[in-house]
Amino acid sequence: MSGSTFGTIFKITTWGESHGMGVGVVVDGCPAGLALCETDIQNYLNRRKPGQSKFSTPRKEDDTVEIQSGIFEGRTTGTPISMTVYNKNQRSADYSEIASYYRPGHADYTFDRKYGFRDYRGGGRSSARETIGRVAAGAVAAKLLDMLGVHFLTYVKSIGPVAIDPSRFDAAQIEKNPFRMPDADAACEAQNYLNTCMQAQDSSGGVVECIIRGVPAGIGEPVFRKLDGELAKAIFSIGAVKGFEIGDGFEAARAVGSDNNDCFYYDENGRICKKTNHAGGILGGISDGSNIILRAAFKPTPSIGSPQETVSKDGQNITVRVKGRHDPIIVPRAVVVVESMAALTLTDLMLENMHAKVSSISDFYNHP
Ligand SMILES: Cc1cc2nc3c(=O)[nH]c(=O)nc-3n(C[C@H](O)[C@H](O)[C@H](O)COP(=O)(O)O)c2cc1C
Repeated sequence: MSGSTFGTIFKITTWGESHGMGVGVVVDGCPAGLALCETDIQNYLNRRKPGQSKFSTPRKEDDTVEIQSGIFEGRTTGTPISMTVYNKNQRSADYSEIASYYRPGHADYTFDRKYGFRDYRGGGRSSARETIGRVAAGAVAAKLLDMLGVHFLTYVKSIGPVAIDPSRFDAAQIEKNPFRMPDADAACEAQNYLNTCMQAQDSSGGVVECIIRGVPAGIGEPVFRKLDGELAKAIFSIGAVKGFEIGDGFEAARAVGSDNNDCFYYDENGRICKKTNHAGGILGGISDGSNIILRAAFKPTPSIGSPQETVSKDGQNITVRVKGRHDPIIVPRAVVVVESMAALTLTDLMLENMHAKVSSISDFYNHP
């Protein structure tokens, strides 16, 4: 299984299974001298952890991070940063049934077909607990980006048929409701919708939107490591993501060129600006200096309590009600996972951009 490493310069490897000893990450390539402590990581992990409301899995997990290496006297040393979260609230018995059948919509069938053997406890490596490593690493990347003036605003844009109203957008609301929606009225509507879903032992999908401010123009490596392509890869690597958009995304296909193009102009300081941002901050795979806007569509949680048809491993057609403690909606907990993957992608490409021009290299080496 060689797919657990992400990034070229700022490289992460996540490890661990849902019901194993723990989960974690090794971040290699973080420059030395970045002020970093466990609280920086924990603040990110707390946005992901379960049990925050009745609309997330009732598993009570503290998800407390331990940093094993790479930091000395509050600063990164330039060596691998290893971080672990120990699994404390496993109830593997809840999942023992999954060993004998394939959950519709989950990865049980494909893991078996690929490896011929799988850790079925809680989904093993296909469990959302794997995203803990991404979020811990994302917190490091975000700290570095913050120093460079790059900031994230990430939230839930819609849940099922309920979408936020842009005229009511209030960023202060994001951490005030269990759905992380920047619109209190939409959050109330989403609550009613989800209560109906949960009564039917069903689940819902939703959309996460991420706005990234302060990214300088010039980030992205054409032609195969374009910024939009790398972001798409990063976001699609998160379980349950079924769609990805930059800027107007699929809407652009319905527009005419004269509406879709973002016209340039010089502002009063002689800087090149755009009148609109249909492109979502990326042209030709390179950041253009305006806000980067991306969206991730998440499917409804596959493990649901309502009866579904499937097959058992011993050759029977059966009907199952999936047991265990599952999220009835994924997007509120996925907000920080999307933000982390975007932060990791940008950090990697911003480091890579440092040697795009001979002048940057000579500035660096000729500097006294
Ligand atoms: C933050 C987060 C939480 C999730 N919670 C659950 C869950 O409680 N139960 C479940 O069956 N799937 C959950 N998933 C989705 C599965 O991980 C995902 O559907 C599965 O790995 C199959 O991958 P696929 O949907 O991309 O095909 C969650 C995903 C994320 C990102």
